[in-house]
Amino acid sequence: MNKFYLTTPLYYVNSKPHIGHSYTQIACDALARYKRLQLGRENVFFLTGTDEHGQKIARAAQAAGKEPQAFTDEISQTFRDLWKTLNVDTDDFIRTTEDRHKKAVGRVWEELKGKKVGGEDVLYRHTYDGWYCVSCETFHVEGPAEAGGPVACPDCKKPLERMKEDTYFFRMSAYQERLMKDLREDKLRVLPETRKNEVLGFLEHNKLADLSVSRPKSRLAWGIPIPFDPEHVTYVWFDALINYVSAAGYGSDPEKLAKWWPADVHVIGKDIIRHHAVIWPILLYALDLELPRTVFAHGWWVVGGEKMSKSLGNAVDPLGLAQKYGIDAYRYFLLREVPFGSDGTFSEEALILRFNTDLANDIGNLLHRSLTMCEKYFNGEVPASRVSLTGGMTPPGRYTLDLKVLAAALPEKLDALMGRLAFSEALQEIWALISRANKFIEESAPWTLAKEGKTEDLAIVIGTLHEVLRIVAQAVWPFIPATAEGLWAQLGIEEPITKSPLHARSWGYFKDGGHKVAKGAPLFPRIDTGEEKKGDKKKAKEQKG
Ligand code: ME8
Ligand code: MG
Repeated sequence: MNKFYLTTPLYYVNSKPHIGHSYTQIACDALARYKRLQLGRENVFFLTGTDEHGQKIARAAQAAGKEPQAFTDEISQTFRDLWKTLNVDTDDFIRTTEDRHKKAVGRVWEELKGKKVGGEDVLYRHTYDGWYCVSCETFHVEGPAEAGGPVACPDCKKPLERMKEDTYFFRMSAYQERLMKDLREDKLRVLPETRKNEVLGFLEHNKLADLSVSRPKSRLAWGIPIPFDPEHVTYVWFDALINYVSAAGYGSDPEKLAKWWPADVHVIGKDIIRHHAVIWPILLYALDLELPRTVFAHGWWVVGGEKMSKSLGNAVDPLGLAQKYGIDAYRYFLLREVPFGSDGTFSEEALILRFNTDLANDIGNLLHRSLTMCEKYFNGEVPASRVSLTGGMTPPGRYTLDLKVLAAALPEKLDALMGRLAFSEALQEIWALISRANKFIEESAPWTLAKEGKTEDLAIVIGTLHEVLRIVAQAVWPFIPATAEGLWAQLGIEEPITKSPLHARSWGYFKDGGHKVAKGAPLFPRIDTGEEKKGDKKKAKEQKG
């Protein structure tokens, strides 16, 4: 079936969201919007939410002097509000403290109880005796047990805690071979390729340990109870991963589940790749559910060489940046600056540079110059762009053909790039068209055509620029939706931008006199960095001296 189900991680609600969380959200939003253009809104399901149980949250609530439920209500809301502000348009927001989710988790326990794998119980009681990282909510069975004293978590470098408790174990070890085979054969596609190799390498060199999947209630009360054992609650990762099926109707709505499952892509950061490419598929095996098609682990935003994180306290507030530079400039920067999958160093200077070059100069100027000329030479009524083979003999006609060819090739390129979540490259392709169009203005010199009274050629040039702008507007919509809609409105197009998904495939939308442009304020007024002024002063000084 032609549907697309994509998910973000469920973020911990121990404190407010930062740039890293907004990155995953904005990337998924761009992908969801792209898919909605292709498949229609009703065939795309974009899920996000918050991860609210476990020791980390219980402690954060305690530190804030609040009851866990009240505490999580509050922080979960800040995530929800931020996504709204950033124009992240999700179809569902699931909180792991909701009844629908708790029911699904209960159902999973019932399903696993009494189940066998290779003649042995999938669940069994055993004592966990090892280390635990509360910040990552992750067990570290191997390694530092000998060392004594507080030992650092290999991932987040925080001190590990020693733990010895009676729990339920999940027989992960029994599924290792099957998982390796499925990963090798891309039954579960792990992207980028380096991450797949990393997971496979890990599985090739380590025997998978069974996983402790419960906590004694006496040690931690803030969790989902196990239906058949009131003394234990669910280990928070076991609980959280299940959201991907609970929100899709597992345990409550089989038809809904059949429509959406398996997920097409789980987008996550590389910090939680093993949870998603090892624990989650094995849990799905045990439940006899299909594997997700793809897990894509993107890179980290880094500040001063360290991963930006709530627990390290080096987090930058997305809201401040979005208010200062605009939501779309912020979205554009995150998706364009770094190839999805690689790490990136965050800096405001880099954001300003992107703003002034790609946004103010390239797309902003193209729109402004084109509309200004349309008003000046054609009373604001877009002329049709006539491209014929004979038209191709004169210079404007020839360049028009270039642009038309470039524009016509765009949808296929975008399909391929968006298919592998290559957001930065997709934007580069769109910007190649924008740059070509800006160059076209110089090449065809419409002001000279006007002076020489070559009205036919002038119409071709202005019509062509508007065709390109129309195609660009729709192409950038998934990434910078508000800007795209503004651009669309300035072009005087009334039908919704999402209505005709194949806009780019048809040249010749504008018929003579059919559309009146409505030039507005510049989309991205240049940010004055003081650089030019400093330069001027220096020059003035030199002249004096
Ligand atoms: O891990 N750069 O939640 P979490 C890029 N609750 N992305 C970043 C980032 C950074 N510096 N920091 C965070 C959890 N992220 C679990 C998930 S899923 C069933 C449970 C993003 O609040 C990135 O997507 O620690 C990362 O994987 C996620 O936030 C971790 O969020
Ligand atoms: Mg984390």
